[in-house]
Amino acid sequence: MTWNVHSTHTQAGDLIQLVGLRHKHFIITLKPGAELQTHRGTLKHDDLIGLPWGTQVFSHMGSPFFLLQPSLADLLRDMPRNTQILYPKDIGFILITMGVGPGHHVVEAGTGSGSMTTALAYAVGPTGRVTSYEVRPEMQKLARKNLRRLGLDERVEFKLRNISEGFDETGADAFFLDVQKPHEFMTQVRKALKPGGFFCSLVPTFNQIQKLLHALRQNRFAFVEVCEILLRYYKPQPARLRPTDRMIAHTGFLIFARRIEPSNDPRGKDLLNEQHVAQTLDAPEEQ
Ligand SMILES: C[S@@+](CC[C@H](N)C(=O)[O-])C[C@H]1O[C@@H](n2cnc3c(N)ncnc32)[C@H](O)[C@@H]1O
Repeated sequence: MTWNVHSTHTQAGDLIQLVGLRHKHFIITLKPGAELQTHRGTLKHDDLIGLPWGTQVFSHMGSPFFLLQPSLADLLRDMPRNTQILYPKDIGFILITMGVGPGHHVVEAGTGSGSMTTALAYAVGPTGRVTSYEVRPEMQKLARKNLRRLGLDERVEFKLRNISEGFDETGADAFFLDVQKPHEFMTQVRKALKPGGFFCSLVPTFNQIQKLLHALRQNRFAFVEVCEILLRYYKPQPARLRPTDRMIAHTGFLIFARRIEPSNDPRGKDLLNEQHVAQTLDAPEEQ
């Protein structure tokens, strides 16, 4: 199976997306000899192999579909899930804000259904790596399967563990935390991150933000930002342009921060106060 993002024409083994009337869509792998059954008729895979992306095709009942390469957002929306997942609107901003890019090492917990893991694996490229922790074996299994389907599993090391036991990694470029009580794990997260490394967590409620803000201060994180991404779609009709009737009103709040290394030098006090960071401890920190 290939998520074929560079070609101009479909090949056997490609992940393809067929989009029909009223946005009904199917993401499938092209297999010679196979058929796709839809409520609007059957499409033979053999008839779809070798066509240019974007071609209009028809079922045996004459119902029209477009043949498209699925985007990362398409794949994430379509991903089989057992947990709340990260949505493209949040993922895009998280990746940019943490500067995740080729060659980076990102640690993540929990894996959940693997939506964020997929986006991280895509962003770090073939030279980067993602380490993803999860406590529930069935969730890890599903995430592995989701990543394998896209050919991204080789960039990810999955670890089964309750993260209260800590992380094996140190020196990570970035850390993404999506568990029920993120404030309980900031000591462990700090140890996994490199000095100056990026942290982000998504929490659904205000009281979780407050707890996390306290934990960030106690664990010497600075440059803290709290935000929420609101995305509103419009009906693309020039003569009747207006918002669509429905929107996803709330997914979660994003909290960003960076691990810093405060000094005892009194000249640094004002900056530490400005960043709401407690004065450093006298004893050097265990890495
Ligand atoms: C909301 S889901 C994560 C969704 C994921 N970010 C995605 O995009 O698919 C939260 C996951 O964290 C896991 N989890 C919660 N507490 C944990 C802990 N202490 N250690 C490891 N995993 C934990 C849960 O089992 C669950 O699968």
